[in-house]
Amino acid sequence: MKIGVLTSGGDAPGMNAAIRAVVRTALHYGMEAYGIYDGYKGLVEGKIVRLGRNDVGQILNHGGTILGSSRLKEFKEIAVRQIAVDNLKEKGIDALVVIGGDGTYRGAMALTEMGINCVAIPGTIDNDISSTEYTIGFFTALDTAIGAIDKLRDTSFSHQRCTVVEVMGRDCGDLSIYSGIACGAEIVITRETGFNKENIFKQVTYAKSIGKRHLIIVVAENITDVFELAKEVEEHSGYESRATVLGHIQRGGTPSAFDRILASKMGSYAVSVLRQGLGGQAVCARGIEIKHIDIQQALDVKRTVTDLYDYLPKLN
Ligand code: F6P
Repeated sequence: MKIGVLTSGGDAPGMNAAIRAVVRTALHYGMEAYGIYDGYKGLVEGKIVRLGRNDVGQILNHGGTILGSSRLKEFKEIAVRQIAVDNLKEKGIDALVVIGGDGTYRGAMALTEMGINCVAIPGTIDNDISSTEYTIGFFTALDTAIGAIDKLRDTSFSHQRCTVVEVMGRDCGDLSIYSGIACGAEIVITRETGFNKENIFKQVTYAKSIGKRHLIIVVAENITDVFELAKEVEEHSGYESRATVLGHIQRGGTPSAFDRILASKMGSYAVSVLRQGLGGQAVCARGIEIKHIDIQQALDVKRTVTDLYDYLPKLN
């Protein structure tokens, strides 16, 4: 059996550990392993290279993805996917492990329908794949966000300011809520909490009235302009305010212990699913168990809002 591996969508710390596990597990079972460079785009361009054991050495502890990544909108078109399928067939590759977010999952399902068995592994800092409790990269990105917010707290306290900080997550508030709890942010705003400016101004004004020296407001991305919000908070509350967008810093860096282990387990598990001749499957972590379900089912799972929202700090 010949299997390929690719990473697609936003890179996430731990992707390299997953690539390593896929390649080494495949080699262990006597399969040939192929790396596909630059995601689905590279697959269409035929960037497919056979990998040996040493090609995935010294990568376990590195952020990013050695295979490179991309987002290819055109992969929705059957004619574009057909080129990818032809490229795989030309090399005799029977099956693929794809590591990424929901766009990656959709590509994997479509390829499976075209005769290439695919297994998808959740790799994204957003933790927005509902079929799995945690995605590879989430906890490392969380540590990065926490480290940055702790630093902002130092300067915020020193200057008696309100600090508004924007955290990534696309449409998912998990990075924000987890970092807000871990850093003791006074206010956390996500799609799940809703965005009510009047309420924010009320809370910030109250904080001022009870003599709070400084405040941290964590805001999930794609909710509002945090620089504008900081200005308005200053006008309403009297706290001098500053805004910071953490941005792509959150995507890089050495993967945490949790992400290395999760990625290693999922990579190895994905190969075992392919060995059973299955395709169109998504790997998920449920408690301490790693499982697999149909990709379509994985995409259909409704997001349940984390109970961490119940623990959000209350100002009064
Ligand atoms: O999906 C990961 C992520 O970092 C999101 O949190 C963010 O919205 C998006 O990717 C940014 O994408 P890009 O790197 O293409 O700007």
